[in-house]
This record gives sequence, structure tokens and C-alpha cells, in this order.
Amino acid sequence: MQVLGIKTDLIRPGDDLVESLDKAMAKSGLAFQDGDILVVSESTVATAEGRVVALDDVTPGDRAQTLAARYGKDPREMELILRESDEIMGGVPGVVLTLNKGFLYPNAGIDNSNAPPGHVVLFPANAERSAQLIRERMAKGRKIGVIIGDSRTHPLRLGCVGVALACAGLEAVEDARGQKDLFGRELKITRKAVADNLVSAAQIVMGEGDEGIPAAIVRDSSVPIREVGGEIPTIPPAECMYIGALGFGPRPYTGGYDDLIEQARGARALAYAPYTGFKVGAALLSRSGQVYSAGNIENVSSGAGICAERAAMAKAIASGECDFEAIAIVGETIEPITPCGICRQSLIEFGEDILVIMANVKGEAITASATDLLPRAFTAGCLK
Ligand code: THU
Repeated sequence: MQVLGIKTDLIRPGDDLVESLDKAMAKSGLAFQDGDILVVSESTVATAEGRVVALDDVTPGDRAQTLAARYGKDPREMELILRESDEIMGGVPGVVLTLNKGFLYPNAGIDNSNAPPGHVVLFPANAERSAQLIRERMAKGRKIGVIIGDSRTHPLRLGCVGVALACAGLEAVEDARGQKDLFGRELKITRKAVADNLVSAAQIVMGEGDEGIPAAIVRDSSVPIREVGGEIPTIPPAECMYIGALGFGPRPYTGGYDDLIEQARGARALAYAPYTGFKVGAALLSRSGQVYSAGNIENVSSGAGICAERAAMAKAIASGECDFEAIAIVGETIEPITPCGICRQSLIEFGEDILVIMANVKGEAITASATDLLPRAFTAGCLK
């Protein structure tokens, strides 16, 4: 197998990437052969597509400000991260882990390396489409594949390896199940991340910095060129070894339930809390779309008190509903409020997937599923 780097001039926003690559290949006497796979770095594709943003043009919202402070990030960059991701799973100082269309990325793939000062490069808007377009325009009758590649780290490993964002003309993952090992045993779970591996190989030549080699041709890889779409298969979080073993902790709320939070905040007015003065509001959203809200109900005999969450649940269940989507809880706490153990047990009775949105009156909010809050819960299944 050979990896042939394609050295180009600096690619700028609005440049025609295919033209630049064609020119660069001609200059170094390179031409595609059948079976070649072209790997192009995602930041180059995104730059040419004009996905470059000047940070000074970004006005961070409240949520971005709070998260930026928590994770030690530029609030403008955090605003872009929020816009570009479905969920923020958490983070460490300087980097947040985001989930977008089933992929985990650091900082929603937003990068300031290889971006002009004061700018960042977002991911290509639609990497699959970009891979297909590059393939259509560059093939010129040859059977080639195209991969848009990025780099990523693995848990607890130092250093980046290649990862395919999208590809065209090849199968991203080869199913090796059914093949035999050295001792004739059938391989049961092995799938080869062919596209990721090809990106890693290409990156040895492409580098990550000022090499000016944004693309490479992988030749004689023996990976078949096929007329297939560029979908990169993923596995659901619950089936992922890392996520399954480490769990999903509570994560920053990134939107979708603003009304429910508002109703929970309003329900604080319904609280009967003469002993602690600590008013909590809960709003429980049933799958039928109905919202049941309540405040906490205290008692002179403190053990007889009922938390807002359970009061809202009692109201819903007494109204004939027990299929719930989400519950929002608001209290006047420094950090977003957290439901007590009894409420967690009560909630999980009605569904491990119920989304719990924990907020405070300052407007900070985090979310977790009922099972995230009560792992290895004692549920009806345990009686079997
Ligand atoms: N409380 C709730 O209603 N929900 C929570 O998530 C935490 C605590 C109530 C119970 C009691 O009335 C008061 O807050 C102080 O413990």
C-alpha cells in the first residue's frame, strides 16, 4: 500500500477545493488509478465551504456564558458549540464532549488550528454530501473512493488517530464476522473500521500542522470501491462499551424544554413549605403532552412531607397518566437542584428513560435520565 501526499497552496474560504486538488495533483505528476482512495482533511473541506467564523461576530447567550465559565472556554466558541451539537455530555477544563447525530466529538468539531487568528473552523455542513461531490468531480472515469477525515483521541490514550467523518465509494466498516481466526474459530464481533484506518494511514503523510498537505491518495489498499453511500455506522450509546461501562452523568441542558422549566419555576408558588421555607416546583410532562405541576408539601412531622416531584407524579397518576417523557424541577439552590433518593426511586418506577431536567432559579439547568440518577435501580424486573 502506498500513501501519496497532495501538497496544495493554502486553501481559503470560497476556494474551489476540487480545482485546487486537481491542480496540485497535476503539478506533482499524480493521476488517479482505479482503486485509489482520496483522503481529504475535514478542516480543508470546511474552510473551502466557507465554514470559517470570526469569533468577534458571535454573541454568546446566557447558556454559553455559564458553560464557558464552567469549562474554561471562550464564551463565543461555547455559543458555536451549542449551535453545532445536539447535546453536551460534560467536559474537562478547555474541552467539552458533544454528541451530534450519534457521534461524539470534542467541542462539536470546532477547531482553531489551521484557522486564521480570531477565527474558528466548523465541521463541513454536510460531510457526506461533500464526499460525494468531491468523488463525482474528481473521478473522471476512474473508480475511486473519497474519505473526509479528522483526528480524534481514544479514552485514556495520548495522541490522535484518524477518524472518517464521511466517505463515498467505499464501505466505511467491513463486517469481518464469520471469517476464521488462526485457529479456525469464527470471529463473532469483529468489524473493521476500514475508513478510520485509511485516515490514520493518510495522516502519517498529511500531518496536522503547517505541512500544507491537506489530502493524500491511498493506493493498493485492497479496499474495494463500491457504489455505496457515505454513511458511517454508529452504535447506540446504551450498547457502547465506553458509555455502557462509564455511564452518562448529568449533562448541561441544551434546550428543548424551556416551557417545562418555566412551569416548574411557576409551580414553586404552589409549595407548602412553612417549616424550611425552601420552595421547590416540579412540572411533569406526560407522553400525551399534558403537564402536571406541583410544589413540595411539608408537614410538621417532617417524614410525612412530600417533595414537589412526587406531588406532581401523584397528581398525574391520579389523573390516569403514568407514561412520562420528562420532569423539570426548580429550586433556589447554588447548583441546579437534585432530586432526593426517594423521588429517584419513585420516578424510575415509571420509566428508566424519563428525562430529568434539574434547574435553579438563576436559570442554570442540567439533565439526566432517571437511570443515570439511579443506576442499578431496584425495578419491577428484579422481582422476576
Ligand atoms: N424537596 C423537593 O421538593 N424536591 C427536591 O428535589 C429536594 C427537596 C423539598 C422537600 C422539603 O420540603 C424541602 O425541599 C427541603 O428538604
